[in-house]
Amino acid sequence: MSPSDIQRPRFHFTPQRNWINDPNGLIWVDGVWHLFFQYNPLGNDWGNMSWGHAVSPDLVNWRELDVAIRFDAEAAIFSGSVVNDLRNSSGLGSKDAPPLVAAYTSAYATGKQAQSLAVSTDAGLTWRKYAGNPVLDRNSSAFRDPKVFRYGGEAGWWVLVSVEADDEEAHIFTSANLIDWTPSDRVAFPDKEQLLWECPDLFPLRHGGREVWVLVMSVNEKSRGRGSATRYLLGDFDGRKFTPLPGAGWEMLDHGRDFYAAATFNDAPEGRRIIIGWMSNWQYAGAFPSPTWRGSMTLPRELTLVEREGRLLVAQRVVSEAAKLERAAERVDLAGADLSAGVELDAGESYRLSLSLALGADAKLQIALAAAGQFATLVSYDATLGQLTLDRTCSGPDSIHPRFPSTSTAQPLASTTELQLDLYVDTTSVELFAADGNVAITDCIAPAPRPRKVRIRMTEGNATVVAGELVPIGDAAKPA
Ligand code: FRU
Repeated sequence: MSPSDIQRPRFHFTPQRNWINDPNGLIWVDGVWHLFFQYNPLGNDWGNMSWGHAVSPDLVNWRELDVAIRFDAEAAIFSGSVVNDLRNSSGLGSKDAPPLVAAYTSAYATGKQAQSLAVSTDAGLTWRKYAGNPVLDRNSSAFRDPKVFRYGGEAGWWVLVSVEADDEEAHIFTSANLIDWTPSDRVAFPDKEQLLWECPDLFPLRHGGREVWVLVMSVNEKSRGRGSATRYLLGDFDGRKFTPLPGAGWEMLDHGRDFYAAATFNDAPEGRRIIIGWMSNWQYAGAFPSPTWRGSMTLPRELTLVEREGRLLVAQRVVSEAAKLERAAERVDLAGADLSAGVELDAGESYRLSLSLALGADAKLQIALAAAGQFATLVSYDATLGQLTLDRTCSGPDSIHPRFPSTSTAQPLASTTELQLDLYVDTTSVELFAADGNVAITDCIAPAPRPRKVRIRMTEGNATVVAGELVPIGDAAKPA
């Protein structure tokens, strides 16, 4: 392993070399999951933005391919999406070889940002920029991140959602051919928050017999507060207008610091809605130590709608395919473990830790992950408050950046004395899911010295481990 690979996550997507940020163009085509991403082909800092490309048969083993859409002197290639133009509505392919069409933002050297297209007629391997670019231009310097999808099936039309990032506005357009776009709605609120709105997504989820639409928005406080985060708003969508559900407001999709620019796959089979985020934060993304590559994606997560205390919420779970990489023979069973005495495990660096606990009303639980000497990442649960916290203030000797050390707290759980936790730890990251995915916290952590242990104990009160296991997770296929 080269020095730069020592801290490489084992089961998360990372590029072979160079910088990545947002996932782009997520789509399933004929059995292949495509992940494009913001990529600097020339270095491991942000710049020369292009679309990198990786493919997977199963959402967990990724193979990195050549750069798909490359920057040029005129414009960088910012974030966007890909659709499968099966009926060749754009005329950019043919009936026999329908095109994949990428909608991305041309970030022009002049400072203008407008939406452009690129076309592939070889199932995504090679791309050419459309000669008539840009196809959607508001003469703006912050008009970006088009998410395109099909509404209403064959009889329907194309929808594009993008943002005026500085104005905190989402703009919705419709088109019959992906080239000519008509404005159909603008989503904005009177109280501006001095944020950037970026990378919108819009999709339906079903709950019982009901279809509810989810508007996902990445919001960036830049150098203030907690930096980058992803929110969602539930509503109705009629193919043209998005109307928030009565009483609905923005909810956090993830309560951690490192889940940004999240996007869902177009055309996932069986009606699945699968999301991937960039596992970083603009406040310190460039400071994370990585000599030859920088940046990682979160695990793919499947989204569902759940009802909690009469309210609809989006829940998320790591896709079941992730279990393929688990090393079941090395599984440690934790059922019945005595947490009052405390449990210490030699966990390695990449594993899933799942616990299902029945806690006393005044119980306090602490899990020290990646514990080595004075360093640890602490997950705590306080049953009196129903509150989960992820504390990385002392995760490793390198504090990374002044804005990096932090504590993330999730909304209180509905049931305070029953706790179900799934933690995915992968070298320098923790993804925590609780209460059937009602709560997620995703944080990068500073590399701790080796060896790294897991310690689970009650700091107050007691708890029974109804079920529990620690399962090491092996390497996903190498990125190239
Ligand atoms: C979000 C973002 C997008 C933009 C891209 C540029 O992380 O700022 O708005 O398209 O990154 O790399």
